[in-house]
Amino acid sequence: MTMKQVQFTETVLRDANQSLIATRLPFANFAPILQTLDQAGYYSLECWGGATFDSCLRYLGEDPWERLRQIRKACPNTKLQMLLRGQNLLGYKHYPDDVVRAFVRKSVENGMDIIRIFDALNDLRNIETAVDETLKCGAHASGTLCFTASPIHTLNNFAQLAVQLEKMGVQSICIKDMAGIMGPKEAYDLVRAIKQSVQLPVVVHTHNTTGLGPMTLLKAAEAGADVIDTALSAFSGGTSQPATETMAYALRQMGCEVRLNDKIVKEANDFFQPLVKNFIAEGLLNPTVLGTSPDALIYQIPGGMLSNLVAQLTAQNKLGLLDEVLTETPRVREDLGYPPLVTPMSQMVGAQAASNVLAGARYKNISKEVRAYVRGEYGKAPGQINPELQHKILGDDPPITCRFADLLPPGLEAAKAELGSRATCEEDILSYIAFPQQAETFFAAREAKRSKTFPYVLRKVED
Ligand code: CO
Repeated sequence: MTMKQVQFTETVLRDANQSLIATRLPFANFAPILQTLDQAGYYSLECWGGATFDSCLRYLGEDPWERLRQIRKACPNTKLQMLLRGQNLLGYKHYPDDVVRAFVRKSVENGMDIIRIFDALNDLRNIETAVDETLKCGAHASGTLCFTASPIHTLNNFAQLAVQLEKMGVQSICIKDMAGIMGPKEAYDLVRAIKQSVQLPVVVHTHNTTGLGPMTLLKAAEAGADVIDTALSAFSGGTSQPATETMAYALRQMGCEVRLNDKIVKEANDFFQPLVKNFIAEGLLNPTVLGTSPDALIYQIPGGMLSNLVAQLTAQNKLGLLDEVLTETPRVREDLGYPPLVTPMSQMVGAQAASNVLAGARYKNISKEVRAYVRGEYGKAPGQINPELQHKILGDDPPITCRFADLLPPGLEAAKAELGSRATCEEDILSYIAFPQQAETFFAAREAKRSKTFPYVLRKVED
């Protein structure tokens, strides 16, 4: 009997870093351990995309592209992986296709192997350009489905989406439970349903916020998942991923083949352990995020969304209305056609529910984000939007039914013209398009540093 192999994606450099310390891990902190991580036998190292790009420019004074090149250089043996929000790239607005294609191309050129591509609404039109370009560049496109529970998100619905992704040409399917609310049975059933519908490897991503993580991954592996996302134990648990070492141990005991080198994994973890202590001492890592908070399961909303609501109501001295807001939340979600409660939908639904309760009348005030969503600017709602609400917002105007990006003019040349000589390469232009202010500040600081390092050049300029 051949043992089922389960492979590991290590998230310490991206999602664990993002979930526990708001993505503040500087390159210099982890550079010394990259060659070790490269020898551990991971399926991939998730090391870029998500919030890392923004954080590099905004907080760390790093060029994200340079970070990617350095990781590539230090890790020639392991596939590098990034997270990409489809047509939104690494932000929350839709970018035109020329920008999406250039971003994907430059990511691959600078060393990316696997691009995990998702859309918050699972509107696959919003990922097709990124998938197409990834494939054209010869990289691996991992087609991603955001997990959520609702009457319309059935096993059959997810399986159909997986079939569409396979037709698009993706090389793997990722089930992405960003909120950490997928239970072991849901994972088992979902992996099986997808495995029965497509021929592709299945990857499972979850968070351990509610404590379900290891059980969920174990059952996913039992159902045939090929790859699981885990984080080195030092950076694991709580809002991060389940621990790499623990999952490897449990899966081997269950008879799975795990090709990780335990000694090297331990070496890597021993390296990160003191860093975690420093982050706690500096206040960057709040130990409460490492705990278990099952509230998300009680209210069926992500933990982050719950703490946002509490903060929002506390700020207005209205925390007493929390129960009402929590009752209103699923109603708003239903009115909006059951969007998965992930950014930016979780904020939108939560804020609208709070507004409905605080105003004492439903939809007396409607946020501009909810209006844009109902107009179809985020994509197609998974279910039916409440027709009354739609009429209230749109009147007799029809919503947009095309892909929103089809309405956008190309963006690359315009950004290039705006930046002029401040951009030194196409990567700079893409940084600027993604985060204009942060990129400009970064370019200015970089320029100042260069002038300081090379005073001779500075004098010549003054001539
Ligand atoms: Co995640």
